[in-house]
Amino acid sequence: MERTLILLKPDAVQRGLCGKILSRFEEKGLKIVAMKLMKIAPELAAHHYEQHKERGFYAGLVKFMTSSPVLALVLEGIGAIKISRTMMGATFGADAAPGTIRGDFGVSRSYNLIHGSDSPEAAARELGLFFPEGIVGWEHAAQTWIYDPVEELKK
Ligand code: RTP
Ligand code: MG
Repeated sequence: MERTLILLKPDAVQRGLCGKILSRFEEKGLKIVAMKLMKIAPELAAHHYEQHKERGFYAGLVKFMTSSPVLALVLEGIGAIKISRTMMGATFGADAAPGTIRGDFGVSRSYNLIHGSDSPEAAARELGLFFPEGIVGWEHAAQTWIYDPVEELKK
């Protein structure tokens, strides 16, 4: 099982899209193992996006991410990082394919609704930044119908 950090960005919260976006992940079969509404401190936003600190859009990105609450969550599943990124779509709404979250709900380059970790290393780092308290361990009743117990859940 893999875990990924998802942020429903300030535009998703302000536009009332959290429920619709969350539903997509739940319906896909990904398991929510942590979730909280939070206002991101400037230091946390700066740290989270530090790989972009030399880029022209960095200051605006940090300002946007701290402007209003986000819904932070951790999703768990086999291949959760890649699956989530595919469901999110291309970075900018205007480029993102129909059927993806960014493709269906937005057009903007700056307000692109959602963040998802892009590698196992990034996921581990970002989980530590946003959920230092850890995740919630629970048994997903549907797990043995989401995954083939013989082929996919064998240890
Ligand atoms: P994210 O990190 O938020 O999940 O998005 P991403 O991987 O698809 O895109 P990334 O290249 O990591 O960029 C991080 C965020 O910076 C903003 N951005 N603006 N104006 C621009 O050229 C530009 N490029 C990137 C976007 O909000 C993007 O989500
Ligand atoms: Mg990124």
